[in-house]
Amino acid sequence: MPVELINQHPQVNASLLNHCRKTSLQIIRLCAVPLHHVNVVLTTDGKMAELNSHYRHKEGATNVLSFPFGDGEESFLDSISPPILGDVVISYDRAVEEARLSGITSEQRLDWLIVHGVLHLLGYDHERSEKDAAVMFDKEQELLSELKIHRRIVMPRLAVNVDHVATIRQARGIEEPDPVAAAAICELAGAKGIVVHLREDRRHIQDRDVRILRETVKTRLNLEMGAAKEIINFALEIKPDLVTLVPEKRLELTTEGGLDVVSQQKKLAKTIDKMAKASIPVSLFIDPDSSQIKAANEIGATFVELHTGRYADAEDEALRFEEFEMIRTSAEEAHLLGLRVNAGHGLNYVNTAAIAALDPIEELSIGHAIISRAVFSGLDLAVRDMCAIVENGSYY
Ligand code: PXP
Repeated sequence: MPVELINQHPQVNASLLNHCRKTSLQIIRLCAVPLHHVNVVLTTDGKMAELNSHYRHKEGATNVLSFPFGDGEESFLDSISPPILGDVVISYDRAVEEARLSGITSEQRLDWLIVHGVLHLLGYDHERSEKDAAVMFDKEQELLSELKIHRRIVMPRLAVNVDHVATIRQARGIEEPDPVAAAAICELAGAKGIVVHLREDRRHIQDRDVRILRETVKTRLNLEMGAAKEIINFALEIKPDLVTLVPEKRLELTTEGGLDVVSQQKKLAKTIDKMAKASIPVSLFIDPDSSQIKAANEIGATFVELHTGRYADAEDEALRFEEFEMIRTSAEEAHLLGLRVNAGHGLNYVNTAAIAALDPIEELSIGHAIISRAVFSGLDLAVRDMCAIVENGSYY
């Protein structure tokens, strides 16, 4: 998680924290350190005065203080992954008062304080000299205007892939756990979409699952599939809210790599056309690659889903940054062409925030990490419930 928001102020609510998180993520991205970790603390004037006195020997509160990680230390700390920038501590009381005096919103003032604090973490210092002050001022203005341009209009949505629940069911060949029940729980927990991949070999999701999900999903049902005749006919009958076309190989464990749209334009265009006649929008799951994006646009896809697998599996931070940059530029290119942009594969609790902060991305499709976590977060209760039966003869 590149940004951690720490709230020490009783009046700061969840929506304000969310605003600050988004601003901070945007800023570290615009400063070309999108995977670095930064803590942003919103505190009171009282706590700020204590910090100011302890670390700077100054009386009273100030609006923002920056504490670069490992400041002045020998840099074995540099090898920590992900790299840590440090802490930005903001007095929310000051921010509100300064906003009132300048006639702007508290959010606008907080944006400025975050920009100012992060620039200090990156080595900018207006107190060093007049020239340094001018450089920092210019950078602040540049980032603030970028922030305005990039402020996203739509929130990214989470769509949960429940294939993994079906995989467990199929391993036993019985009826539980049911991915249909899982989908309902995901929606109740806030997921804005349900994704299932109906594979030709029916290794996890079954036709029955998709049919029932079509009736029960209250958000949006995204059917992932290969462009094979039998599955295309099934999709045309079921009419999911979105069809995501993926490459499908029989021996792969999971979808490996994106579709090669360039070499299959004709075949994919035909499928898109058939879906269009049934009013089903199509997304193409592709690698973040300019030629694939152009080809997807030419054949009339509504969405592309950018494959985040190489980003997720990168072996070191430098490679992860390279992959991230490819996703970022591809998302922007696709958006400029008029394509809508989703992303997914291999996203987990650590690597998702940086991708979710990319403006053009509308929806993230995530499965494995959520179901893996559910095994552990649900295990405690599952064992307690069984203990109750074994030890007391009754569950209730
Ligand atoms: N998007 C596509 C096209 C996929 O094939 C998958 C895996 O089924 C996902 C997203 C979700 O990937 P994961 O299970 O790694 O979150």
